[in-house]
Amino acid sequence: MPCAADSARHFARQHEGLEAQLHAHLLDVVGGDFTQAEQHLRQWRTHLARHIEVEEQELLPQLPEGARWSARVYGQEHERIALLADEYGERLAQVLANPPATETERRHAALWLIDAAHALRHVLDHHHQREHTALALELPEALQERVWREHGLAQELEHQGRR
Ligand SMILES: [Fe+2]
Ligand SMILES: [Fe+2]
Repeated sequence: MPCAADSARHFARQHEGLEAQLHAHLLDVVGGDFTQAEQHLRQWRTHLARHIEVEEQELLPQLPEGARWSARVYGQEHERIALLADEYGERLAQVLANPPATETERRHAALWLIDAAHALRHVLDHHHQREHTALALELPEALQERVWREHGLAQELEHQGRR
């Protein structure tokens, strides 16, 4: 019988990838490189949108009767995450439209972004925990494995196409 950590490994790997991209973006923000930060944020946002799409189209419809949380609960959290991500992206766009002229302004801009990122990361973390401790344990392992593998291959092909 697989333990809970084993059952959640496919979701955990996906979420770690997303977290690493957001982390790379935040390092740019802390370093004051807002142009690079915008590129990393765009990559993360695209990946996040695909991730949510895969869950909503291929995984949540397979939730069994009597699941701990309904698909609607996950869907509402996805909407909240997308909203916070868009609001955060708007802050970054404002910084880029009016770039800080001094070191002090740069530090203020970085802190203003990090304040908004805090709420976003909190909601993401909570949502990932819910998926690891409920959704991942309630969906068939073979389904999770297949769906995330196909998603990974699609991403790889797209990445190669961009070069
Ligand atoms: Fe999700
Ligand atoms: Fe997820």
